Amino acid sequence: MKMGQKISFDNLAEEPYASIICYPKPNNVELRKRLKELQRLKVRLIEFSGDKEVFNISILGKGCVGIVTIAYVNGEKVALKIRRVDADRAKMEMEAEMLKKANSVGVGPKLLDFSKNFLLMQYVEGDLLPLWLEKTPETTRIKTVLHRILEQCWRLDKVGLDHGELSHAPKHVIIDCKDNPFILDFETASINRRPSNVTSICQFLFISGQVAEKVNEKLGLKDKKMIIESLRTYKAFRTRENFEKVLQACNV
Ligand SMILES: Nc1ncnc2c1ncn2[C@@H]1O[C@H](COP(=O)(O)OP(=O)(O)O)[C@@H](O)[C@H]1O
Ligand SMILES: [Mg+2]
Repeated sequence: MKMGQKISFDNLAEEPYASIICYPKPNNVELRKRLKELQRLKVRLIEFSGDKEVFNISILGKGCVGIVTIAYVNGEKVALKIRRVDADRAKMEMEAEMLKKANSVGVGPKLLDFSKNFLLMQYVEGDLLPLWLEKTPETTRIKTVLHRILEQCWRLDKVGLDHGELSHAPKHVIIDCKDNPFILDFETASINRRPSNVTSICQFLFISGQVAEKVNEKLGLKDKKMIIESLRTYKAFRTRENFEKVLQACNV
């Protein structure tokens, strides 16, 4: 990972940091508001490091809603999600609520705090799933991680929380150094839809797309028809028994 600078709170009003706090374009009123929020959240330092870049500055990640960086709160290293000024939502509250619900069944980085424009959560050091798969030769480790991801999706299904973006999730699963997967980004999650986490992630991991191809290449081709059939049954009757048939069909 590219190392970056630690910028103390007092210097965040300077460029290019102001433009990251108010990505993609700063304005004075917004910047002042956001700095006050950071102060309230006790963010003392922001560390600009990671594999992504904006304005030549390293960050952990960037999506449609946020810029994610490392921050320090009470000396603890955490992940800070900054709402983009051009995001299609006015606040982070809903995402915080959804993440908290996911946390209640042991899924996702732990939610630490939030404000209108920021969300503080556990920092997960690791690789996104596609890169992790590329780097990991042992099939038993791959099976274990895929099994853990499916179990997490089962728990989300059970608690009625639909993630919403798991059918294409190259940027939404990080694996840490202990082979623990973390499902990220609950900004499009909902408790008002019929949850389809298990079916969506199976689509992504085993049925179609580059990650599925890589998984098939590493673990050997599986009977896709059988997987699809087991998912159909699971979808109709979301029981533990039917979920275990999905695990069997996927061979994880
Ligand atoms: N808790 C975290 N620890 C480490 N990296 C993270 C964490 N949360 C997000 N990231 C990184 O930031 C990227 C964007 O985060 P995400 O929540 O998906 O933002 P968006 O809602 O804007 O899509 C992720 O793909 C991931 O690489
Ligand atoms: Mg995202």
